[in-house]
Amino acid sequence: MEKQKPITNENPAAISVRERLSMESKPENCGVIIFGASGDLAHRKIIPSFYSMYIKKLLPNGFYLLGCGRTSLTDESFREGIKSSLQTFDNDISSKSVEEFLSFCFYSKGDYFSQVLYENIKNKLQKFDEQFNSNNNHIFYLAIPPNIYSNVVKSLAQSGLVQEEKGRKKVVIEKPHGNNLESAMLLIKQLNSVLDEHQIYLIDHYLGKDTVQNILIFRFANVVFEPVWNRNYIDHVEIIAAESDGVGDRAGYFDKAGVLRDMFQNHMMQLLSLVAMEQPLSFDAENMRNEKTKLLKSIQQFPINELEKWIVRGQYSSAELNGEKINGYTEEKNIPGNSKTETFVAAKILIDNERWQGVPFYLMSGKRLHCKKTQIAVYFKHIVHSIFPPLKPNDLSENILVFSVQPNEGISLAIESKHPGPKLCMGDLNMQFLYKDVFSDAPPDAYERLLLDCMLNDQTLFIRENNVELTWKLFTPVLEEWENNPDIPLYKYQAGSRGPVEADEIPRSDKRIWQSMDCWWEQQND
Ligand code: BG6
Repeated sequence: MEKQKPITNENPAAISVRERLSMESKPENCGVIIFGASGDLAHRKIIPSFYSMYIKKLLPNGFYLLGCGRTSLTDESFREGIKSSLQTFDNDISSKSVEEFLSFCFYSKGDYFSQVLYENIKNKLQKFDEQFNSNNNHIFYLAIPPNIYSNVVKSLAQSGLVQEEKGRKKVVIEKPHGNNLESAMLLIKQLNSVLDEHQIYLIDHYLGKDTVQNILIFRFANVVFEPVWNRNYIDHVEIIAAESDGVGDRAGYFDKAGVLRDMFQNHMMQLLSLVAMEQPLSFDAENMRNEKTKLLKSIQQFPINELEKWIVRGQYSSAELNGEKINGYTEEKNIPGNSKTETFVAAKILIDNERWQGVPFYLMSGKRLHCKKTQIAVYFKHIVHSIFPPLKPNDLSENILVFSVQPNEGISLAIESKHPGPKLCMGDLNMQFLYKDVFSDAPPDAYERLLLDCMLNDQTLFIRENNVELTWKLFTPVLEEWENNPDIPLYKYQAGSRGPVEADEIPRSDKRIWQSMDCWWEQQND
């Protein structure tokens, strides 16, 4: 990591994302093998991220990409598919850079359960390693259904494809990492039986988002925040990941998962970890992940006998929005009419350590809500004494620090300030930094950052196995109780609303309200 020149008014775009990324060391030559290469994730995220790195000159000189899948494709038809996915990145898909990129993309069709596929891969890798001088370094990316992860990893090992006698071998595994504590532990055991920890890259794409990484920079690279980052000054924290879309075409996966598995066990807990963790010794994989582990271990288990006071679930029902009928969850394509899968969860989390004792973290995530917004809002306490009579401390607004993860990526701080005029009148003011106003490039896609890190052998932004275990330990009892106890309600909320009103009870029982869904500081910026 290197320090950049300051951003000034004269030169607001002093640092472009491209400049910054290209300062990081270049990865060593390698071949990337994508399982599930004809699927949606590969075409929407993984391959475009490699292309984007290619045009930013971040890929090593010796690089190739081998797609594998069950779909019958030739190298040519695979390249055609890539070409159309790249259209969103490069309008001119017949450009030289697209043609160059395609020239090192190949395809191998096969059945994941047949050794023939792995033998084919082996033969192709031998040939490409020579052709592209990739030193036998291979990254296997599993963008396949989670229930076949173990089989594929086992077959890779049986074929000698992940042994590190010659070159590095890494395996990147998409979420979900298990479906509950038991299945997660089984997956971890199976991975560990054939791979070393340094070969395992468990992905949570939220950690690749620039704004998420900025939480750490903000906290630990500035002097002003850390001294007040504790229960003496912080009243509570809200973490919200609201989505306006419904389940889309992912019904098959989502109906078996639900929001607690899909968003809380991974993304939400990672956001919480970064906000709440202690300062690591340094920003590297071991120290960062050690601190996250300590934090996750300090989280209080949910009290199962009074679950509803702590965690509430909901499911969207149909509604009319702008004259258009929006389906309820159970009317969505391929969702059973009697599905009890939750599309919304709100929860309160307490952390048992010196820093956070008594500070509630309110978390909320849901689909088909009234807006799309991921943000972390840190609400500070009121001042203890007011020198502005008749105003009492509680008449003055609390300071609020907001990390806006998406959209409108940025950071803001709400403060009290004097408003213009002869009298001493005060009001809320929002000091805001928006990425789009300051940087010339939009932040890179989260996958781009993570894939680059993987090529650089940096596991700092990947999930360690014991973090997977700890988060499942927290949520598996809740999932079991939801499944087994018919008395626990699944509250309905209208599509396009703010979620079920029953979720308000969680902060209300602490004499608080959800503030981040309709926050004044955003309205001020519109
Ligand atoms: C995925 C979930 O991991 O994250 C999706 O499976 C969710 O259900 C998505 O929509 C949200 O990601 P982002 O980057 O759009 O906030």
